[in-house]
Amino acid sequence: MAESTVLVADDDQAIRVVVTQALSRNGYMVRATSNAATLWKWVEDGEGDLVITDVVLPDENGLDLLPRIRKLRPDLRIVVMSAQNTLLTAVKAAQRGAFEYLPKPFDLSELVAVVKKALSQPTGRTERRDEGRGDEEQLPLIGSSPAMQEIYRTLARLIATDLTVMITGESGTGKELVAKALHDYGPRRAGSFVAINMAAIPRELIESELFGHERGAFTGATQRHIGRFEQAEGGTLFLDEIGDMPVEAQTRLLRVLQEGEYTTVGGRTPIRTNVRIIAATHHNLRRLVSQGLFREDLFYRLNVVPIRLPPLRERAEDVPALVRHFLAQAASEGLPEKRVDETAMERLRAYRWPGNVRELENLVRRLAALYSQELIGADVIEAELSEAPASAAEPEDRGSENLGSAVERHLRDYFSAHKDGLPPPGLYDRIVKEVERPLLTVCLGATRGNQIKASELLGLNRNTLRKKLRELDIQVVRGVK
Ligand SMILES: Nc1ncnc2c1ncn2[C@@H]1O[C@H](COP(=O)(O)OP(=O)(O)OP(=O)(O)O)[C@@H](O)[C@H]1O
Ligand SMILES: [Mg+2]
Repeated sequence: MAESTVLVADDDQAIRVVVTQALSRNGYMVRATSNAATLWKWVEDGEGDLVITDVVLPDENGLDLLPRIRKLRPDLRIVVMSAQNTLLTAVKAAQRGAFEYLPKPFDLSELVAVVKKALSQPTGRTERRDEGRGDEEQLPLIGSSPAMQEIYRTLARLIATDLTVMITGESGTGKELVAKALHDYGPRRAGSFVAINMAAIPRELIESELFGHERGAFTGATQRHIGRFEQAEGGTLFLDEIGDMPVEAQTRLLRVLQEGEYTTVGGRTPIRTNVRIIAATHHNLRRLVSQGLFREDLFYRLNVVPIRLPPLRERAEDVPALVRHFLAQAASEGLPEKRVDETAMERLRAYRWPGNVRELENLVRRLAALYSQELIGADVIEAELSEAPASAAEPEDRGSENLGSAVERHLRDYFSAHKDGLPPPGLYDRIVKEVERPLLTVCLGATRGNQIKASELLGLNRNTLRKKLRELDIQVVRGVK
């Protein structure tokens, strides 16, 4: 194929020069301009095979040029580069048909690689429908602190890819929100976003939840059940609280990720999968790996692109914007409009937010719903903050919870994990087993593995105990406490 021509538009001369040099060295012809009008003229004249454009041009916004270029020359690939690294820029570029978005500054080698890739792919690939989201400016992620800018930059690079992403961060920092944004603005947005929370599902059920089961696969499996992998086909599977996944299920998941196919529980035919995986956890996974609680190979499989969401106290400058956002949200839901005065805002900025954005959101909702005054002062904030449980973020702090309410809480989480539907049938047996397992393990631990003593302690017949241990696959180690 004859030499390809690249059209470059950037008002910064230094950038035009280095980009031109880098591309020429790699065998491309280059025409560079500082403005949108010249670029548009070249496009109209049928010149060029690829456009690289900046967003802020003196005469027109480069992003506004995109739909016109796509309309006139659908075969012309476009790469957008910008120093305005907000999620919005990245998303708009993708929606308006850019092949790639490069946040400035970028490596020249990266630019050359992108150009090469864009020119080698059939043009159909860049075709993206602009779904005409009515309100493009209303993005889900609020905050413009340096820490969040860094997150947007990473998301901007990821949005058009299928790479596996691992999101870490304290509870309430927005892990699920980020996962959802990656899906909603990426090429898989026509598919489903399916979330599964490993911490909310009994361990025995995880495999059937993930991969589905056939009718009769186990007691209680009265019907075929569709797994989350199947639900997410063509879309995104969000593996939430991945650090809580039992080790056996980790092994199975690793195999599926390696082979790109799975079988349902009780099924035989391998099913190929096409899902994008995003995982999240509030645990320190490296620590879990070193403790032998998380498979190292699975960790590396999932940790392709790590994103760490900073706790809110590390970006206190985002607090006012978040407060205004949640107040506006409450007002749009019909709650009275409210403002927060300056000293109150100062108090909110200085607070440590152990429960992060979720805690802030809940507080703002209370302000909107419970107080009659239009302007909220520091006294109200003071009262609200002193009411707040000391550690909204630390689920470990459940010292006073009794067994019944712990079980109830787990069950409620489990049911709510099935948003519109019910969990698969056979619940009674499964839940009883879930409770039996720790009961037997703890009793055996207390009797140092002595089954006679354990059966007395439990008030069970020895054979019954032995049978249960076999059923539940519990290994008895003698003499270990
Ligand atoms: N940057 C943000 N802008 C606006 N809202 C946010 C932001 N971050 C988080 N939120 C909101 O805060 C709440 C908690 O976010 P999310 O559920 O994504 O947190 P999480 O990290 O998954 O928490 P957990 O570990 O407890 O599951 C949600 O209602 C979400 O919409
Ligand atoms: Mg979450």
